[in-house]
Amino acid sequence: MATETTTFEIRKTTQSRIAEVDFSNLVFGRSFSDHMLVAKYENGQWGKTEIVPYGNLSLSPATAALHYGQTIFEGMKAYKNDEGEVLLFRPFDNWKRFNLSAQRMCMPTVPEEIFIGGLQELIRLDSDWVPTGAGQSLYIRPYMFSADEYIGVKPSDSYYLIIFTCPVGNYYSKPVKVRVETEYIRAAEGGVGAAKCGGNYGGSLYPAKLAQQDGYDQLIWTDAKEHKYIEESGTMNIMFVIDGKLVTPAVSSSILDGVTRKSIVAVAEYWNIPVEERRVSVAEIMDAVKAGKLDAAFGAGTAAVVSPFSHISFEGVDYALPELNDASFPVRVKEFLEKLRTGKTEDIFGWTL
Ligand code: COI
Repeated sequence: MATETTTFEIRKTTQSRIAEVDFSNLVFGRSFSDHMLVAKYENGQWGKTEIVPYGNLSLSPATAALHYGQTIFEGMKAYKNDEGEVLLFRPFDNWKRFNLSAQRMCMPTVPEEIFIGGLQELIRLDSDWVPTGAGQSLYIRPYMFSADEYIGVKPSDSYYLIIFTCPVGNYYSKPVKVRVETEYIRAAEGGVGAAKCGGNYGGSLYPAKLAQQDGYDQLIWTDAKEHKYIEESGTMNIMFVIDGKLVTPAVSSSILDGVTRKSIVAVAEYWNIPVEERRVSVAEIMDAVKAGKLDAAFGAGTAAVVSPFSHISFEGVDYALPELNDASFPVRVKEFLEKLRTGKTEDIFGWTL
C-alpha cells in the first residue's frame, strides 16, 4: 500500500497509444502500456520515484549491468473483476522475492512504498490497459539493474528500478512438448537459480534452441551434479500428477520459489489432494509414464500460468501423455486460479489486492 510519506512525480503522456493495440489478438510481451515507473538508487538511498511516458532509456555504454549481468526482475499480473476494478495477484510475494533476489545479487532492496505503492499508482494510471478477454491479463515487469558507469567488477553504487506493463494473452497456445535435458543445466546448488536474475534466462537460451531445432517447445531441467533429479521446465516450475497426488520438486538454491507454484500447492491442499514437495527423480517420472501412471505433467509460472505437457522426451524416445479433460487437475486448477484472480470466485486465500 502507498504510505502518506510516498510521493510520486507523475508526467502523463500527451498521446495514449492504446488505440494502436489489437486487444482481440494480444501477442505475449509485444505491446507496452503508456507509462512506466523509474526510480534511481544512489548515494546509499532511493531518490525520487517518477512515473513517466513509456520510452527509451539513455545509458552509458559502460553501464555495469550490460557487462556483468547484475540485474533482476519479477513477473506479476493484474486482472479486472466484473465491476471493472483492477486486482493484483499476490504482489507482496513478488515484492519479497524481488528483495531476496536483490540480496543474492548484491543489490539494494526496494521499500514497499516504492514497489507496491508505485505499482498501484502506475496501474491506476494505465487501468484501461488491463485486458478482460479469456486468458488475458496485464503482465507487470519490475526490474532492477546496476547503473554505474564503470567496468571494474564490483557491486554497483547506483541502480535503476523500472516497472512497465503489457497487456498479454496466453504464453503458450497449446500443450507443450518437452525434452529431459541431460547435458546442459539451468542452475547449480549454491548458484543463483533461486534468484530471478537475468543470467539464468540468458544461459538457458542455447540448450532451449537446440531442443527447438529438434522439434520440442522446451526443456525439463535436471540437477547439475548427476542429471538424475528434475528441477524446472523452461522458465517455469514443474509439477506432476501421479496416482492422484500432486508431486513437485521442493524449492532449493537452484529452484525458484514460484508464486504460481505455491498457489497451486495451496489450492491442491485446500481440495484435499495429497501434495509431495520433494526431490523428484527422472527415473521415477519415466517409470510412471511407461506404466501409464502419470496422469499429467505441467509447467507453472506467472507468464505461462499452467501449461500442460503433451509429450516428454527422454533418451531419444517421445512419450505421449494422456489427453486432459475438464476433470483433470491442471485444467481445474487453472480455471480456479483464473476465477480467483478475476474476482469470479471468493478469494478465500486473501491473495488479491
Ligand atoms: C514469468 O513467468 O513471469 C517469468 O518470469 C517467465 C518470463 C521469463 C516470461
